[in-house]
Amino acid sequence: MDPATLSAARDAIHRAGHIVFFTGAGMSAESGIPTFRDALTGLWERFDPALLASAEGFESDPELVWGWYEWRRQKVMQAAPNAGHRAIAAFTTNVRPRAVHVVTQNVDDLHERAGSEDVVHLHGSILAPRCFACATPAPPELINMIPDEPEGGRRLRPPPCALCGGPVRPGVVWFGESLPSAAFDRATRLAQTADTFVVVGTSGVVEPAASLVRRAGRQGAAVIVVDPNLSASNREATCWLEGSAGDVLPALLDVR
Ligand code: OAD
Repeated sequence: MDPATLSAARDAIHRAGHIVFFTGAGMSAESGIPTFRDALTGLWERFDPALLASAEGFESDPELVWGWYEWRRQKVMQAAPNAGHRAIAAFTTNVRPRAVHVVTQNVDDLHERAGSEDVVHLHGSILAPRCFACATPAPPELINMIPDEPEGGRRLRPPPCALCGGPVRPGVVWFGESLPSAAFDRATRLAQTADTFVVVGTSGVVEPAASLVRRAGRQGAAVIVVDPNLSASNREATCWLEGSAGDVLPALLDVR
């Protein structure tokens, strides 16, 4: 991480009255949760995530898709927030009353478990399964149970809805489905009013979430990208901090 770039990014943080953190799967990578662009392994190795993360994929093979999500839900429930999550939460507390918001594409709850509040989830939650047919939320005993899935994965029959008997599905937004409108509207307003927009761990290729980075940059926000790799988000970047969330964010936010 280039010291001059870090210094410029820290200046953009210090002078901002409203800061938005926009996070993707890379934010949770150091917590042991695979990113979407990580190669799929085991049973799912020959499948495209876009197929698995879709209503069509679920309808054509519910056991394959439900098994994948239960394996991922297990990863989330066994994971712990990393230094990046903790840095954002601590920074938010330290700089009050300055406005700090978190908008995430992630379906885990690691920001909340690190202490961030009022997190805007654009793509739903893997911890909120519901009926595919009638949308009734799955019962707490299913939600609170930590799956015990083999590392290589397996097919797993989705449990039946307690109300209508339909198959329970993950509570995440799938390809081809709309984002929760209230969440996206709020995220849009936050991007529109941010002074500094910190993009952490997203390849920036999935719309409409990725449009938030453009919206922030075009209204004049300083766009700081935190990622070990170049991503589509870099097209809007004021500066790129090349590194992992767990290393960069504590240094950027001066939280050790
Ligand atoms: P991706 O897997 O597309 O991108 C992950 C990004 O994180 C990449 O740019 C990596 O370089 C970066 N990365 C990896 N390790 C990192 C680390 N330790 N610290 C910081 N960055 C790191 O994941 P997303 O961009 O989040 O949609 O994917 C966007 C959406 O595509 C997901 O929300 C999901 C998927 O379809 C839904 O679930 C609806």
